[in-house]
Amino acid sequence: MKKVGVLISGRGSNLGALIAAQEGAPYKIVLVISNFESAEGLSRAKDAGIPALVIAHKGKPREIFDGELDAALRKAGVDIVCLAGFMRILSDGFARAWEGKLINIHPSLLPAYMGMGVHERVIEARETQSGASVHFVVPELDAGPVIAQAAVPVHPTDTADILAARVLEVEHRLYPEALRLLADGKVRLEKGLTVFI
Ligand code: GRF
Repeated sequence: MKKVGVLISGRGSNLGALIAAQEGAPYKIVLVISNFESAEGLSRAKDAGIPALVIAHKGKPREIFDGELDAALRKAGVDIVCLAGFMRILSDGFARAWEGKLINIHPSLLPAYMGMGVHERVIEARETQSGASVHFVVPELDAGPVIAQAAVPVHPTDTADILAARVLEVEHRLYPEALRLLADGKVRLEKGLTVFI
């Protein structure tokens, strides 16, 4: 059983999906950390009886903030860290320290559409497909090797919000699946590549 820490900044619907899927899964969420006290996701943790912490980033150098995250995760005995709508860029040092044990979900078919404002850009480019990706986190933003990906159609009438909702639905299925693979030791990061075992 792998102990999981989830980092959030807001709504926490992916956290909710990871919580909902944990029964019978090879992972247990032992800690949720938000950098904002107002994050809705914190109540999802509390409702599920999972310890939740607020570690504010404001006014702190990145390395200090990341050091506090690292200390809290290690104190809780965390094996795997999941970023779930966590809106801070982590330092290279943090990414390296957790290499192969740190994953993120991004609402695009990576490597396409890294960064922010994905759905607006996908619609603007008249793409016919978009989707979600779970990937290992490396120091370069959204550039880590993909573990799992799922596509959805983009319709000509879609607004960014409509597309976001369609993608979010697959995110909620994809993230628990990818975490399960990692927790089970069925996938790992090796020399910068995702390897399925
Ligand atoms: C999701 O779309 C995720 O892909 C992105 O941020 C959003 C977080 O949503 N990284 P939630 O907080 O999990 O509801």
